[in-house]
Amino acid sequence: MMKNIFTRVICILLLLSFILAAQSCTPSSSVPTPPHDGTLKPSDFSGTSTPGETPDDGVVELTPPITPAPLPNGTDEPTKAPAPTAAVTPQPNGTGGPATTGGKVALTFDDGPSAAATAKILDLLERYQVKATFFVLGNMAEALPELLKRQVALGCEIGNHTQGHKYLTKLSVTDMRYQIDTVNNHVEAVTGVRPRLLRPPYGAKNDYVRAEAGMPLMLWNIDTEDWKHRNAQKTIDAVLNFVKDGDVILMHDLYATTAEACETIIPELINRGFELVTVSELFEAKGIALSAGKDYRMAK
Ligand code: NI
Repeated sequence: MMKNIFTRVICILLLLSFILAAQSCTPSSSVPTPPHDGTLKPSDFSGTSTPGETPDDGVVELTPPITPAPLPNGTDEPTKAPAPTAAVTPQPNGTGGPATTGGKVALTFDDGPSAAATAKILDLLERYQVKATFFVLGNMAEALPELLKRQVALGCEIGNHTQGHKYLTKLSVTDMRYQIDTVNNHVEAVTGVRPRLLRPPYGAKNDYVRAEAGMPLMLWNIDTEDWKHRNAQKTIDAVLNFVKDGDVILMHDLYATTAEACETIIPELINRGFELVTVSELFEAKGIALSAGKDYRMAK
């Protein structure tokens, strides 16, 4: 009798232990889930997350990578690009800074001649008896030979801006020679004066261009960006707020707004005591020889 009772108690205890064991293995909704299971939501990156819960690389993945913009071509010199806009920030290397009075400066006009602006600019130069330099494009000059003759008659200098405004850095030697020689030959045939200086389109130059051009490369140190804004007052400000002795100033005789700006720029420079000369005269006055194979930005 006692043995049967003892056996039953043992069986009940075993049964109870099995039930308890089975319950402990059952999944329960109260078990915490990992904070991030691989399906991150934007809220996961909010400030409410604790540092330990927010993956460090989560924010990085949301930020586009910053890579340098590619150069226009693989051979231009990135550190010697045309001068930044003088109107925006004065440059420590002399491209900007406070305007001064007195000295010599060279106004230069690229991409012409054009019916829209060149004659008007020449009228101003003639009226004030000052000079400028015109870096002509061959395909423009061929259509307006009388303007070339008038430029030379007024004592202005004609420089070479190539036949078709291409990146010289991208051309074969043969193509580069065509772009340069065609203009030199045409200007000399029309005016009797062969250009001495080359202004490479876009200011694009490198050792290859310096070696093969066969002319001094004349860049600039004040860029009016007249072609971009086509605003006479901005062109005026770009010159008059920064001009200093020895500056080479870039404009384009393509736009009526540039000619309009010159109505103010030329007499004001004269009022400030500046002498407006050609680029070659500017460098000669400063005792700087201009040589093929080199480039120049200002007469300093
Ligand atoms: Ni140009």
